[in-house]
Amino acid sequence: MTDYNYKDKVAIVTGAGSGIGQACAVLMAAAGAKVVVADFDEGGGNRVTDAINDSGGTASFFKVDVAKADQVEAMVKHTVATYGGLHVAVNNAGIGGAQALTGEYPLDSWQRVIDVNLSGVFYGMRYEIPAMLESGGGSIVNMASILGSVGFANASAYVAAKHGVVGLSKNAALEYASSGVRVNSVGPAFIQTPLLEKNLDEEMLGALSGLHPIQRLGTSDEVANLVGFLCSDDASFCTGGYYLVDGGYTSQ
Ligand code: NAI
Repeated sequence: MTDYNYKDKVAIVTGAGSGIGQACAVLMAAAGAKVVVADFDEGGGNRVTDAINDSGGTASFFKVDVAKADQVEAMVKHTVATYGGLHVAVNNAGIGGAQALTGEYPLDSWQRVIDVNLSGVFYGMRYEIPAMLESGGGSIVNMASILGSVGFANASAYVAAKHGVVGLSKNAALEYASSGVRVNSVGPAFIQTPLLEKNLDEEMLGALSGLHPIQRLGTSDEVANLVGFLCSDDASFCTGGYYLVDGGYTSQ
């Protein structure tokens, strides 16, 4: 695990009860951050929170559905009230959605994927940015995907939402670059997490591995290492970027 300095930083990580978000929360807490583990899954969120606190870190769980603006606002208020400010946010919570051709895509799945994966990121920044400005500045990473820059058949809602996350991140970066808030997005290729394991069998996971020039799936820690850098002061000149962690996938 890469050792960044998060001493005196307060961080929110959404979707921190599992996978990539869990790895980001654990990395930041180990580096000294006080972390709000935000998730709508209480079991996962409490498990990660307890693990951080048991290993000498500082974390608290906040139950949130990122698709609900009022709940996201409450998450940010909770963070500032508990830890006195906000410096880092990883808007990571996301879902896969239905797999279907665009001409047959279920309308309810389209709506939920856009609500969680795109509006959820907007709601995050809508409330995090004012709190960061009050706290003297900050850094945001929004979790996009390689599918923020290329398509993938049968995943139109996910691809549309992740392209939106890349554009939204660039826009916020421009608006706040001179005010001390940096905003970047990250584009992982296929990462071995419950999100993939829930939706794909062993054979499909094997086939996906072969799509990466590195010939394997990525790990949550490999994504967290990049997020950890971007959210740290070491990345002080990085804003408005879309950073891939993709085993060469999009170079083909
Ligand atoms: P995961 O399924 O392991 O974890 C996602 C977490 O988000 C879960 O704890 C879940 O309860 C939470 N969550 C889902 N919807 C929520 C909501 N509405 N409000 C609050 N929490 C919610 O998934 P994984 O793989 O760690 O994905 C994290 C992010 O990374 C997602 O945005 C995903 O699209 C993105 N990503 C994942 C890739 C992969 O191959 N696993 C590749 C590229 C991007």
